[in-house]
Amino acid sequence: MSGSVTTPAAPKGPAPRPIILDCDPGHDDALAMLLALVRPEVRLLAVTTVGGNADLRRTTRNALAVLTLAGRTDVPVAMGAPGPLVRPLRVADWVHGESGLDGADLPEPAAAPVSEGAVALMARLIGESPTPVTLVPTGPLTNVALLLRAHPELRPRIARICLMGGSMGEGNATASAEFNIWVDPEAAAEVFDCGLPVAMMGLDVTHQARVTVAESDAWATLGTRTGRVFADLFRFFARFHRDRYGWDGSPIHDAVAVAHVLDLGLVCTEPYRVDVETTSELTRGRTVVDIRGLLGRPPNVDVGVSIDRERFLGLVRDALAAFP
Ligand code: BDR
Ligand code: CA
Repeated sequence: MSGSVTTPAAPKGPAPRPIILDCDPGHDDALAMLLALVRPEVRLLAVTTVGGNADLRRTTRNALAVLTLAGRTDVPVAMGAPGPLVRPLRVADWVHGESGLDGADLPEPAAAPVSEGAVALMARLIGESPTPVTLVPTGPLTNVALLLRAHPELRPRIARICLMGGSMGEGNATASAEFNIWVDPEAAAEVFDCGLPVAMMGLDVTHQARVTVAESDAWATLGTRTGRVFADLFRFFARFHRDRYGWDGSPIHDAVAVAHVLDLGLVCTEPYRVDVETTSELTRGRTVVDIRGLLGRPPNVDVGVSIDRERFLGLVRDALAAFP
């Protein structure tokens, strides 16, 4: 087993797309990180963290531990918002455990967060990048909303926002809302309506991106520590999905957002008008998707509707095999 990362052969064609992953690791965020680190179609400029699945201290520690496991502490990590724009933070410890990443022995982080905050680092990297940067938020949208508020001049330099969150159908935090949007609906409303290209990978598509327990157990046989750690992590993650949904295995929600950015035709999307409910307590954080165009308003979001599960899981497996 080698200690270095094996990157798949660079594809012929366009240069890697620069991306920033804004996340709250989180079992599925952690896999999103690996995909973003290893795929040649993208270049991960930074990881920024937000309070979400766990508090900010924990999500930041988890991000650093995953980069340490992957041997990629060269990627800067910046801490963002500890909580939503206007509401108290509600964490998902019932899904991800108290640490936000329960179930495996992760290494002690071998790096610390950079001194710049998430918004400052994102702004600097976007400003310095020769090509527009794609933002990939996989937690509550607080940091992205703050960035857009603080730096309107950078908007032309943001290629797209490809996020995990929302749902056309069922919710998971409540009957009507998906967790990331439910935690900070005010931030989500600002991001969905920001006028930049937005792609939403919601539960409709991420629930199709499920790995069975047998498939994630098989990651332990890839011959890498990373594969073994993620097999353990996903055995823990599967408990919640077995108890709540009766499923064999777990959706790898956040990695779908990265998979879509790779532009390999894995995810099909439809352009729809999407608005976020911020006032009702009953439906707080609902992404209201106007599938039939009843509002007569132009689409503002490309909504993920289906995914090639087998190819997606192949990418995930290859990523796990590529790290030490
Ligand atoms: C989303 O919520 C979090 O628990 C996951 O990391 C994912 O981003 C799924 O609803
Ligand atoms: Ca997440």
